[in-house]
Amino acid sequence: MKTLVIAVHPTMSQSRINKAWKERMQKEESVTVHDLYAAYPDFQIDIEQEQKLVQDHDRIVFQFPLYWYSTPALLKQWQDAVLTYGWAYGSEGNKLHGKELLLAISTGGPEEAYQRDGYNYYSISELIKPLQAMANLTGMKFLKPFLFQGVMGISDEQIEHGAEEYVAHALNASMEPIGK
Ligand SMILES: Cc1cc2nc3c(=O)[nH]c(=O)nc-3n(C[C@H](O)[C@H](O)[C@H](O)COP(=O)(O)O)c2cc1C
Repeated sequence: MKTLVIAVHPTMSQSRINKAWKERMQKEESVTVHDLYAAYPDFQIDIEQEQKLVQDHDRIVFQFPLYWYSTPALLKQWQDAVLTYGWAYGSEGNKLHGKELLLAISTGGPEEAYQRDGYNYYSISELIKPLQAMANLTGMKFLKPFLFQGVMGISDEQIEHGAEEYVAHALNASMEPIGK
């Protein structure tokens, strides 16, 4: 199984979590790591190149820090540009059918903030529904996301441990898709 990690962070050099995740993933032979902001700092996405990259892999990982309860802007731009009619959806748009989508998300807010009596009220599962709906429409299997939460002020050891957990989760070959 070939895995493509699309790592999305607007200031990767200042990142603690996503940078550690990216560097750890780069050690895996079966994984292609694609740093989206490094490739397209001007947001001018090469659609053909991106579609080819996705088609060459079986599992696609979107790795990003939660920004305003959503993805960083370039990942939204990537979806808008790359997931075209006739390629990703529409009667002949079947290029993503059967592929797997896995989200790996770091959040500043702790897990308990993302529930009804927490200060964010909504769960992560609710907030990521647009990405899950995208997977549904394009025929991708939506896998259990990897969440790393409450990251402010955590130690280097915790980050290192988290990176190992991330790799184990994201490369687990026998994961069942989760329901709607
Ligand atoms: C513009 C911006 C928006 C953010 N929005 C959220 C948010 O909606 N929820 C949250 O829990 N954390 C939010 N954060 C915190 C980031 O998710 C957190 O700093 C990041 O996951 C840490 O990962 P890193 O070390 O890779 O940057 C935000 C941070 C920035 C800079």
